[in-house]
Amino acid sequence: MKAKQRVDKILGNMGYGTRSEIKKWAKLGKISVNGSIVKDSGYQVDPAADLIELDGETVRYRKYIYLMLNKPQGVVSATEDLRDRTVLDLLDEQWRAFEPFPVGRLDKDTVGLLLITNDGKLAHELLSPRKHIPKTYAAEVTGIVDSNDVEAFAAGVELDDGYVTKPAQLKIIRTTNDGEPYSRIELTITEGKFHQVKRMFEAVGKKVVFLRRISMGPLRIDESLQPGEYRELTEAELQLLTQVQGNQK
Ligand code: URA
Repeated sequence: MKAKQRVDKILGNMGYGTRSEIKKWAKLGKISVNGSIVKDSGYQVDPAADLIELDGETVRYRKYIYLMLNKPQGVVSATEDLRDRTVLDLLDEQWRAFEPFPVGRLDKDTVGLLLITNDGKLAHELLSPRKHIPKTYAAEVTGIVDSNDVEAFAAGVELDDGYVTKPAQLKIIRTTNDGEPYSRIELTITEGKFHQVKRMFEAVGKKVVFLRRISMGPLRIDESLQPGEYRELTEAELQLLTQVQGNQK
């Protein structure tokens, strides 16, 4: 977030009121910065350093935001894109003002859990290959996934570029042989190579036709979020994530 911003923008973004309401309150002397009344609602303040009060109440400023998004298909996990809509386009301006970014990437056609934050340190820790943060995906795959695949994934499979994946846990949820053979699985991986899940199945001659991330470290998708919906992490979820940050492996 930019250091200095208009006080009406800060209060507006935090949901205190509309710009015109805030302007009125400023005129009435209800806003003070570092103990001095500020009548100009365009007054520049640094919300991290300055004490803002509205009607005598301290405005609790937050530096970081943590949002859980149920990513829908068709949007890209980037902060900007010339062609496609990005996950940030799904957020209200109130959140975009914090200049957040997605933690890692899901393919355009992948859905499910995506953490969006402006906490670079936490994001870095979660993405660090040294941390081996497990990520679980639910997928629909053409073909019958069997115990050979479970064993192959547990041992590591060779991708198209020669890279051998780290051990991954494959769980077969259901297979059907009516019409087109197809399987429903869950796969937990601890790394994040480009298109990793899709390429792992290609390595065993199968094709992922639907992919949804259901967890990342201790964070699990909130099933009540419809695709495209998001919410702030709860205190408990944030605590769990911060513990990950402390666990150096
Ligand atoms: N693996 C993939 O192939 N795609 C994703 O979006 C995430 C993991």
